[in-house]
Amino acid sequence: MSSGRLAPGDAPWADLGFERFGVLSEEDAQARILDARARLGKRAVLLCHHYQRADVYRHADLTGDSLKLARLAAQTDAEFIVFCGVHFMAEVADILSRPEQTAILPDLAAGCSMADMANLAKVERCWRELAAVLGAPDEKITPVTYINSAADLKAFCGAHGGIVCTSTNAPKIVDWALARREKVLFFPDQHLGRWTGFKKGIALEQMAVWDPDLENGGLAPEEIANARILLWKGHCSVHQMFQVEHIRRWRAQYPDGQVISHPECNLDVCRESDHVGSTEYIRDIVSAAPANTRWLVGTELNLVNRLAEQMKPQGKIVQFMAPMVCMCSTMQRIDPQHLAWTLENLAAGQIVNPIRVAASEAEPARTALERMLTVS
Ligand code: 13P
Ligand code: SF4
Repeated sequence: MSSGRLAPGDAPWADLGFERFGVLSEEDAQARILDARARLGKRAVLLCHHYQRADVYRHADLTGDSLKLARLAAQTDAEFIVFCGVHFMAEVADILSRPEQTAILPDLAAGCSMADMANLAKVERCWRELAAVLGAPDEKITPVTYINSAADLKAFCGAHGGIVCTSTNAPKIVDWALARREKVLFFPDQHLGRWTGFKKGIALEQMAVWDPDLENGGLAPEEIANARILLWKGHCSVHQMFQVEHIRRWRAQYPDGQVISHPECNLDVCRESDHVGSTEYIRDIVSAAPANTRWLVGTELNLVNRLAEQMKPQGKIVQFMAPMVCMCSTMQRIDPQHLAWTLENLAAGQIVNPIRVAASEAEPARTALERMLTVS
């Protein structure tokens, strides 16, 4: 039902504050998005992560996982890169795009709780503590940050001979890092780091967990000296919900089914899965599978629901791994009302929620990102 407060086609508006958009009905918000997009034309491109809700995802020009979206942001010529994802993704778009382009996040509250588990003060303290135990960390340890991290942590990696990785390229990046220095400091996701090291045959005892809230990460000097990978104690609140028992119960019921998970899941879940990979990989593998197959998927619910719908015509059954709802609540903040507000403002000549990384951080962060793009 229409709210009657806003009607398409009467912009430019005297008042483009969000209050007037927050009350829009779904139907009105959708109409205003389409209207503003028509007025903006090719000046704006909408990049959407696979976890976006359906009512936003339907407006995407381009979709992808974090690596693909980073590449797309670097390639587009659009004046405005409207990022339907989370804050670190919009920061990467800003860093990799040209100065005359603007990356925009429709709701600034769309952060990533995992990215918030590491910050520069804690990483610098960790580096100092490692220096005290090992001496000269810039010769001994390559810092590797998962792309799910703030720009200043990417800058830290750029400045210390380090690199960024994503869920797609982590194995290649860790090879690159270990070829340069004997150890890796991997932050903020311990699970992606552990799975990556495990696949390389690194013993679990040589992957020590660094707790940033404890002195020396809670590790004895010998543990630090023995470690090949130091895993920052961070995790994804969504993927931590998936448990190996969910897989075992499902396999008992459907022994011919296949299990596919994101590497942010814990090691047991990854080990029990038939396939492990990024959101794009999950979509690709299930899409390419033979008709009438059955799948259990360990990643965010919006992606799984969409995939289940898309696969139905081929008789494929796609099921969600956890018995409870696991959505990325921060991705969910990008709703049609915020998207309508953002696009209406752009069409009226006002930029809202631009994401601009300071040059002092953007330069070294770009170094770390470009190393990643070259390696992967
Ligand atoms: P992908 O790069 O695989 O899309 O993962 C991003 C993410 O945040 C998963 O939780
Ligand atoms: Fe961050 Fe987890 Fe959401 Fe991915 S699913 S954006 S890691 S909180």
